[in-house]
Amino acid sequence: MNSETRARAGKNNLLSKVAVLFVIVAAGGAIFLYYHRDWNAPAAAKNLRNPLPATDDSIAMGRMNYSTHCQNCHGDKGDGKGPRADSLSIAPSDFTDAHALGLVTDGELFWKISHGRRPMPAFQYKLTETERWQLVDFIRTFAQKPNAGVAPAANSPSP
Ligand code: HEC
Repeated sequence: MNSETRARAGKNNLLSKVAVLFVIVAAGGAIFLYYHRDWNAPAAAKNLRNPLPATDDSIAMGRMNYSTHCQNCHGDKGDGKGPRADSLSIAPSDFTDAHALGLVTDGELFWKISHGRRPMPAFQYKLTETERWQLVDFIRTFAQKPNAGVAPAANSPSP
């Protein structure tokens, strides 16, 4: 081996070490991102139309399933402060947050209820599609003020 080939071999060696390091860092980064990514429903799920309009019936059915399957974590007021909430690694979502709820579509809520994400369980095999849409209709009611859509009272202070 003359000095030139030795130098080239050394360089290749370094190059392959850099390549291996790169792969390790990239794989680690991908795994990290996978676990810390935003919880985003796929576009097709976001655009799903809610086939069950929020009627008194659908909301009542949603309320019933909520109290058996969801209330423990999300709370009877939907504020994310159920009895189990404190023992969870991630705080349950607060459904009374009208701004946050305004940013997600019914399809997204349906998808999240169906698929879950640790520590929240998936409900796609526990509840029927109809039951999951009823839950979407019901949890939307938490963020609505009791007088939403009602004109301000006549005696409210005027500017
Ligand atoms: C074991 C506790 C637990 C139970 C039971 C549970 N959840 Fe959750 N839920 C969570 C947690 C924690 C999150 C936040 C997860 C995250 O952000 O990664 C969450 C998030 C959600 C979200 C996402 C809200 C958003 O804006 O992104 C919806 C919708 C939801 N839950 C609905 C339900 C419904 C409906 C039920 C019952 C059928 C239910 N959950 C049962 C713990 C729970």
